[in-house]
Amino acid sequence: VQQTREQWGTRAGFLMAAIGSAVGLGNIWRFPYVAYDNGGGAFLLPYLIALLSAGIPLLILEYTIGHRYRSSAPLSYRRIKRPAEAIGWWQVAICFVIAVYYAVIVAWAVRYTWFSLGQQWGDDPDGFFNSEFLQVAEAPGMISGYVSGVAWPLIGVWVVVLVVLGLGVRNGIEKANKVFIPVLVVLFLVMVVQALTLEGAAAGLDALFTPDWGAMLDGGVWIAAYGQIFFSLSIGFGIMVTYASYLKRKTDLTGTAVTAAFANSSFELLAGIGVFSALGFMATTAGTSVDNVVADGIGLAFVAFPQIISSLPVGGALFGVLFFLSLSIAGLTSMISIVQVVVSAVQDRTRLGRVQSVALVGGATALASILLFPTHEGLYILDSFDHFINQYGIALAGLVLIIVLGWVLRRLPYFQRHANEVSLLRLGTWWRVALGVVTPLLLGFMMFDSLRAELTENYEGYPDTFLLIAGWGVALGAVAFGVVMALLPWKRADRIAQADAR
Ligand code: PHE
Ligand code: NA
Repeated sequence: VQQTREQWGTRAGFLMAAIGSAVGLGNIWRFPYVAYDNGGGAFLLPYLIALLSAGIPLLILEYTIGHRYRSSAPLSYRRIKRPAEAIGWWQVAICFVIAVYYAVIVAWAVRYTWFSLGQQWGDDPDGFFNSEFLQVAEAPGMISGYVSGVAWPLIGVWVVVLVVLGLGVRNGIEKANKVFIPVLVVLFLVMVVQALTLEGAAAGLDALFTPDWGAMLDGGVWIAAYGQIFFSLSIGFGIMVTYASYLKRKTDLTGTAVTAAFANSSFELLAGIGVFSALGFMATTAGTSVDNVVADGIGLAFVAFPQIISSLPVGGALFGVLFFLSLSIAGLTSMISIVQVVVSAVQDRTRLGRVQSVALVGGATALASILLFPTHEGLYILDSFDHFINQYGIALAGLVLIIVLGWVLRRLPYFQRHANEVSLLRLGTWWRVALGVVTPLLLGFMMFDSLRAELTENYEGYPDTFLLIAGWGVALGAVAFGVVMALLPWKRADRIAQADAR
């Protein structure tokens, strides 16, 4: 039906792009902390089980859907069953929201790569980050002013992303990832080796890997393991459906999925080793225990790391550049994949050419991003978007998709056959059990658990109205967008569906 659809040049090119999407901030600043916090070495077992029982099966499902229908997420789901289109647009909206704020973090990382030369944060990295660099307002609220030091790197990030997307799947996305991913691996490996040579590295690794076996009896640890796997593999929001829609007919799906998943997990382990070696050094120089210096997310990357970089006796600038450049590249390749979900959906929906779609969609996304985030309130908005879209976007959309496909429409056997037709590694009953039973139960339980926390107290103690707009408003807005889009007539999709039926 779509003879003109773009294609990846090679399977290796697709694999690089898939790894580029998966390896992101989640690997570098999320995994080390989550592992540390949830049993250390003992976390690796639940993590591995989550990977095998839910992560890889869901990844294979997304690859198979994209490969089977060769369409963006909304059109693919619509071709499975018409009302399912709504889930696709919901995912598109989620990707739009993520892209809008993810770009800002990449922009910070780019800026900090530069700041690393000469340690421009001075002797108070915390104050520098919040007051000088971001100029964060006292409290969340209405936007009260613009911060140009964040705005211009952000504009730069958007230019790079839009140019790559404008060049297309093969000449843009694939080529960029083929350069970025090997470079990222090298930079990161050198960074980890440098971290391992630091005084106190062993103490850091002890803190991370010493197993607390009792943790495995704690349900929260299992939730954390599944949560990390879903986030880290970028599953549940249409990214892999989109990327797989550009695959050639004869592509091994399951083998590729397994390879991408293990590459992502290897990168996570490596990040754990690098980050905790550095934290071990920080604790040792401060004469305290690693437990006292552990940080995660923004605090780890933009406060703790600058502190570590500044206190290195030699090679501080190198270490900083390696770390922040890795963060920038990892974030950039993930961002490219998120925006492409929106671009490809708009292309399918409007039949606009690639460049026009990128200009339209990318332009709108970039504009929202550039208007909202380089502001005094940007950090709070980002934090709230991130929390709500992760909990009630990605995880919920993934859950709904699985229930609809597995339970309502009972399509798993069909997709199992489709994957087996082209793949070396055969899917058995285990795959349907993992997807139809294990995954929905766990996602459902995670949803229940986070909703309970949400209703007990305001996220981060933010004010009600702020959370209503920048939290629930965004999460529910994405659902509403999905439903409205699916209600609109779409003649070309009907024709494609008729052709499918023949
Ligand atoms: N999987 C990415 C990571 O581990 C996260 C991501 C989020 C990727 C959104 C794409 C889109 O960091
Ligand atoms: Na990841």
